Amino acid sequence: MKRWNVAEVRASKGVRKLGCCTAYDSCFARLADEAGVPVILVGDSMGMNTLGYSTTLPVKPEETLSAVAAVARAVKEAMVVADLPFGTYQCGDDEAMKNAVRCLQAGADAVKLEGADSRICALISRMTNAGIPVLAHVGMTPQSVNSYGGFKRQGRTREEAERIFRDAKAVEKAGAFAVTLECVPAELAAEITAALAVPTIGIGAGSVCDAQWLVMHDMLGLNEKVPSFVRKYADLAPVVKNAFSRYVNDVAGGTFP
Ligand code: KIV
Repeated sequence: MKRWNVAEVRASKGVRKLGCCTAYDSCFARLADEAGVPVILVGDSMGMNTLGYSTTLPVKPEETLSAVAAVARAVKEAMVVADLPFGTYQCGDDEAMKNAVRCLQAGADAVKLEGADSRICALISRMTNAGIPVLAHVGMTPQSVNSYGGFKRQGRTREEAERIFRDAKAVEKAGAFAVTLECVPAELAAEITAALAVPTIGIGAGSVCDAQWLVMHDMLGLNEKVPSFVRKYADLAPVVKNAFSRYVNDVAGGTFP
């Protein structure tokens, strides 16, 4: 099969639900690609999953760019989306454009950014017009963790739900080829999914979305604590720990090498 692209992701709406995930290195990206994951996100969640930060905020552009390049080198069929880290698109539109260009030059097929205010929508239009496909992200946007006072579900009040609905419509109008809906009520995600012509990709947003994200380290059981909506498709942490421990014991006991 040829490589997934923006047109195919858009065309999947109403035809086929896509199981998409994050990856941050060549090894896991190759495995996800070979398993048929259509869209791999080099998420700024790499901050928590591979860099030891407690939020996505400290992630630096050079950290994600290096991961984007590693993932892009490994995949043959998946589309690679690069998250724009905090600070790379908040401080000026020209700088945001340059940072998005750097993501594509590192091998990404598209970028993802959070939010839907008028400035962000103008940025989505500008990037899209410049040939940089944009995946939008509304609902709970982790780069706003300090404004929320923690990673909190959004859209629980009628006002919030109406705002998130408007946000989703606004980013679609601005040119986003798909919209991430994070941690919003399933009924709201269903309403948005029905109202948009582009696919919604949910995470903690129920089953009605056109596609789903899972964070790789959560779905593979590498993280001890995972959000309640996660399904673990493997339990790798004990397997990996056991392998390290047997190795240490074998060397100490003289049975290896
Ligand atoms: O960084 C990330 O992993 C994300 C997903 C939660 C969509 O943005």
